[in-house]
Amino acid sequence: MALGDLEVVGRIVGASNATLLGVVELGGARASVVYKPVDGERPLWDFPDGTLAGREVAAWLVSDAGGWDVVPPTVLRDGPFGPGSVQQWVGAEDPDGAPVASEPGEGLVDALHPAQVPPGWRTVVSGSGYGGEPVVVAHADDPALRRMALFDVVVNNADRKGGHVLRGGPGAGAAAGRVLGVDHGLAFHAEPKMRTVLWGWGGERIDRDGTARLEVTAGALERGGLREALAPLLTRAEVAALERRISALRQRCRHPRPAPGGPAVPWPLF
Ligand SMILES: Nc1ncnc2c1ncn2[C@@H]1O[C@H](COP(=O)(O)OP(=O)(O)O)[C@@H](O)[C@H]1O
Ligand SMILES: [Mg+2]
Repeated sequence: MALGDLEVVGRIVGASNATLLGVVELGGARASVVYKPVDGERPLWDFPDGTLAGREVAAWLVSDAGGWDVVPPTVLRDGPFGPGSVQQWVGAEDPDGAPVASEPGEGLVDALHPAQVPPGWRTVVSGSGYGGEPVVVAHADDPALRRMALFDVVVNNADRKGGHVLRGGPGAGAAAGRVLGVDHGLAFHAEPKMRTVLWGWGGERIDRDGTARLEVTAGALERGGLREALAPLLTRAEVAALERRISALRQRCRHPRPAPGGPAVPWPLF
C-alpha cells in the first residue's frame, strides 16, 4: 500500500469528502484500497489543525500499537490526486478481484422497530420515524464491537456512525470475518467530542481485554515510539489529551456515559 502503483477505479458516492476506490499493485500483488486525497477534504471549523488523512493514519497507528484490531492498515502517501490516506478495503472481493461493498453495520448495528431488536442487543437511541412509528438504534453485544467502543473513547472519535462499522466478508483476505471501523478523520480532538452509536456499555466495567489494550497502548506511547510516530500527524495538545484519556480510563476502569451538553451521537446515525 505504501509503495505500489495506485490507480483510482471509482468514487464512493454519498461520502462527504472525496473518498475514492483504488487498486494498488506491486510485484504482481494487488489490493483494493480507499484513497482520500487531502485536496478533497472539506474544511471543518471544529478540526482546523492538520489533515483528516493524517488523523486516519494516526488512528491506524494507535490501533496497531495497542493491538486493538479496529482500524484497517492505513498509510499516508502520494497518489493521482496528490497526498492522502490509503486504507485497506474491508469487504469481500468477487472472483475477478473487484471489491464488493459489505452492508454497513450488518448484523452489528441497526435501526429498527423496538419489537424487532434481537435478544441481547443494546438499545442506544429511541425516536420516531417519518410516519411517527417508533424506531430505535441498537447494537449487538459483541466483543469486537465492545473493543471498538473503547477504542473510540481512547481516540475521542467524533463520528462513529452505524455505517462506519464493517465486517470483512469471505474473500476479504486479512479482513475476512473481522469487525473493523472506518472513517477516523474526526478523531483526536483535544476537547471531549465523542459522538458514537456504540454507547451500549456506558457505565459498565472495562473487561480484561479492554484493560489489556489500554495498558499496551500506554506502554507504546511511553516507550514504544508511538508518541513520536503521532507527532507529525497531531498537535502536541492532541497527543497530550490522548495520554490523559488513557490514564483516566485506566483509573476509572469503566466505559463512560454520554457527557451532558454536547451531542452524544453523530448525525446522521448511519
Ligand atoms: N476501508 C474501507 N473498506 C470498505 N469500505 C469503506 C472503507 N472506507 C470507507 N468505506 C465505505 O465508504 C463510506 C464512506 O467512507 P467514509 O470513510 O465514511 O468517508 P467520509 O470521510 O467521506 O465520510 C463508508 O461509510 C463505507 O461504507
Ligand atoms: Mg463517513
